Amino acid sequence: MSNGRIILDESLLLAEGSERKCYLHPSLPGHCIKVPVKAGLGKKCPQCRVDLYNARRLKARRVPMLHTVDCLGWIDTNLGPALLTERVMDEDGSASMSLQESIESGNLKWEDVDRMLKDFWVWAYRYSVVVSELNIKNLMHREGSGGGRLVVVDGLGGRKPDLVFYLRQHLPWLARKKTMKRWSREYGKVKSAVLKLVQKSHDMDENFKDDFLGFDSGVSEHDQLGSVNISSGQSYPKRHE
Ligand SMILES: Nc1ncnc2c1ncn2[C@@H]1O[C@H](COP(=O)(O)OP(=O)(O)O)[C@@H](O)[C@H]1O
Ligand SMILES: [Mg+2]
Repeated sequence: MSNGRIILDESLLLAEGSERKCYLHPSLPGHCIKVPVKAGLGKKCPQCRVDLYNARRLKARRVPMLHTVDCLGWIDTNLGPALLTERVMDEDGSASMSLQESIESGNLKWEDVDRMLKDFWVWAYRYSVVVSELNIKNLMHREGSGGGRLVVVDGLGGRKPDLVFYLRQHLPWLARKKTMKRWSREYGKVKSAVLKLVQKSHDMDENFKDDFLGFDSGVSEHDQLGSVNISSGQSYPKRHE
């Protein structure tokens, strides 16, 4: 930090969206900093204004921040004005993965995602939270002892801070109407993206198995996939595809 200004560099870059780059806070663990990508946009960044106002309204209405993160305000950085937000962390303190990363790493099945999406919907409906857009990059998968849950880091409240946005923030019935209207489309989008990824990792697994088993190693499939580790005497179960 120099003169209260936070210095960011590419070693702190966490991920990049279409409008903002997301950096780790250099000294505040559990926080990140969003810098608008478009040069000179600064505090006019529409999505940043939406995030900030939306978080303030949720807090004013005492909505439990179970499925989103707090957005704490503007800070000064060497890359211009940027938004300070909480970072999504698992209960054990490790960084949460995005839904996309979690599926790619084989942690989740569609049934798990479906359950988490439904929990998220109940929260959004109950607290009249506007869901404007959901996708597998903006949904984070937070793990905890009570099971996993989805946390939205971008896509609540609306896309731009126009008159309808402010009206929905103050009229819960209008917010609910918007969420109900969007839900089946957003749910469908997430579902097809998840199923595509699950299929892709299944295909990769199959290809790997074909390559592996196709190679004449002199041992049977059962020996390779589900038998006994001779050196330790430990038994490994068959993988379930
Ligand atoms: N609070 C957060 N905690 C952890 N990762 C985050 C957080 N906010 C954003 N990210 C990561 O940074 C990426 C880009 O941020 P995002 O706000 O979605 O930018 P954009 O508005 O440009 O899409 C996200 O897809 C996500 O992977
Ligand atoms: Mg995004």
